[in-house]
Amino acid sequence: MKTIGFIGTGYMGGALASAASRSGMDIKILLSNRSREKAEKLAEQINGEVTDNATIAREAEYIFLGVKPQILQGMFEGIEDILKERKDNYVIVSMVAGKDLAFLKKMFFDHPIIRISPNMPVLVGSGLSQYVFSDDVSKEDQEFFLKLMAPTGKLIPNDEHYMGAVSGVTGCGPAFAAMFIEALADGAVRCGVGRKDAYIYAAEMLKGTADLYLESGQHPGAIKDSVCSPAGLTIEGVRVLEKLGFRSAVIEALIATFEKRV
Ligand SMILES: NC(=O)c1ccc[n+]([C@@H]2O[C@H](COP(=O)([O-])OP(=O)(O)OC[C@H]3O[C@@H](n4cnc5c(N)ncnc54)[C@H](OP(=O)(O)O)[C@@H]3O)[C@@H](O)[C@H]2O)c1
Repeated sequence: MKTIGFIGTGYMGGALASAASRSGMDIKILLSNRSREKAEKLAEQINGEVTDNATIAREAEYIFLGVKPQILQGMFEGIEDILKERKDNYVIVSMVAGKDLAFLKKMFFDHPIIRISPNMPVLVGSGLSQYVFSDDVSKEDQEFFLKLMAPTGKLIPNDEHYMGAVSGVTGCGPAFAAMFIEALADGAVRCGVGRKDAYIYAAEMLKGTADLYLESGQHPGAIKDSVCSPAGLTIEGVRVLEKLGFRSAVIEALIATFEKRV
């Protein structure tokens, strides 16, 4: 049985811990969070064990880092001495945005590092996570990690150089997509549709359009064209979106997330 520790069980740490618990692997899950109640609630749901950062640093063979980037240094200083004393091998799995392999290797005494850049749909098994291994992650650890994280959804190996740019779409994108669902629903409510139904219609439409693209391979522009009949309703909506800078707003939002990172 392997011991997997999660330091920071907020939105993403909690989602990955929950996925690990559904992996069917023979594991013990240790959870530690600044506010203990959050870890306790999660532990109940996934049959984990609540502990502290020091115990995870001492015992876990895979240490998942689920704290915010600005917290990482302080959190590390609290476990630094324990990690220094460890003679066995352990793997650091970091979901911390913007902290690259070179930085993490230096921080964690040259131990093997796995960087994962997940997104919020991992909560329901429909995530898309990029990952990269440092050169010294063994084949066995690579396979174990991929099996452990399989319940999150799709796992895509990526060149670290592109992770930041891709995570603008995959990591930040769910916020933009949720805003689009909300805005569509507001419009529908203004036109007389009930609020609850409006969210479902908007979300199902988005999901269906994504499936259409992924399954047919049609260019997104061709899908748009196929909905726009001459002098029809849809082209009127397209005209308004173009006039109000819809595409430009989305492009600028992506660039803003990228530039904030680099
Ligand atoms: N959310 C996303 O979509 C997403 C996507 C990709 C990557 N990430 C990365 O995932 C990491 C976590 O993000 P998040 O959205 O899950 O944030 P979050 O919900 O704020 O989770 C961070 C957790 O860390 C806990 N924490 C803070 N200091 C700690 C310490 N010293 N020891 C143990 N736990 C501590 C916090 O506890 P409290 O309950 O006391 O605040 C909180 O529960 C970030 O590095 C982020 O870059 C997030």
